Amino acid sequence: MKTHQGKVAIVTGGRQGIGRGIAELLAQRGATVVIVGREDATSVAEALGADALSLTADVSDEAGWANVAEEVARRFGKADILVHAAGIYPVATIDEMTLDAWHQVFAVNLDAHMLGARAIAPLMRKAGGGAIVAIASDAVGLVTPPGMGFSHYVASKMGVVGLVRALANELAADNIIVNAVHPGITDTEGASGMPDEQKAQVYMTQAIKRLGKPADIAGPVAFLTSDDARFVTGQTLAVDGGLMRL
Ligand SMILES: NC(=O)c1ccc[n+]([C@@H]2O[C@H](COP(=O)([O-])OP(=O)(O)OC[C@H]3O[C@@H](n4cnc5c(N)ncnc54)[C@H](O)[C@@H]3O)[C@@H](O)[C@H]2O)c1
Repeated sequence: MKTHQGKVAIVTGGRQGIGRGIAELLAQRGATVVIVGREDATSVAEALGADALSLTADVSDEAGWANVAEEVARRFGKADILVHAAGIYPVATIDEMTLDAWHQVFAVNLDAHMLGARAIAPLMRKAGGGAIVAIASDAVGLVTPPGMGFSHYVASKMGVVGLVRALANELAADNIIVNAVHPGITDTEGASGMPDEQKAQVYMTQAIKRLGKPADIAGPVAFLTSDDARFVTGQTLAVDGGLMRL
């Protein structure tokens, strides 16, 4: 099913975890994938196809995004898809919270979405339109276990939802759709430090009582970046085994 043939897809955080699952599925569907992340992901990109590319950049850095846009323009002349999967989720209770820690979470989890959209939208206009998907979190529904120390994370992801709605409105005239996906608890490298009991505490409240996998998140992202989703914008989709039904 080559729904993404001819499309250039930028996936942040595509080296591992949810981003990697998305990068792999979009490549399978025919997209040329550009992985953007803090660490080099050349070996991951090589496995995705001849044209796939790894670009190293901190997504919270404005200059990094300028380099990404320049390189994608030089190689491909356009971008069709931007999926923001890079994110961090350190734990700090409000008593432990430093302002630096708060700002760092906002820089990576929220500022980066604005910087990326601003840098890449001109390349989507060249393509005649595009699709942006922000990976937010079920944590926006405040479903994290009590006392988990996620206030900066939850607040930043709520900001993502607001940004997605505003950009959907703003970029519709350019034929660019903008949506958010909320994963539930997902089995990734980043989440590997969370104790199994804590993960089970979350997923046992889902309708489908298991940990999510990156591939579970990738399918709905593939839909939201396909032409089939052309009339869907400003939406948030929970992909969480039914946790958000509660
Ligand atoms: N894993 C879960 O249970 C879960 C649940 C809900 C939402 N999410 C969200 O999904 C996204 C991916 O999570 P994951 O579990 O796959 O994480 P992960 O830690 O396994 O992977 C994140 C990737 O993002 C990259 N990254 C982090 N900060 C960056 C920066 N400043 N610049 C560039 N790259 C950076 C990392 O290098 C890594 O490759 C995050 O936004 C996270 O908040 C995850």
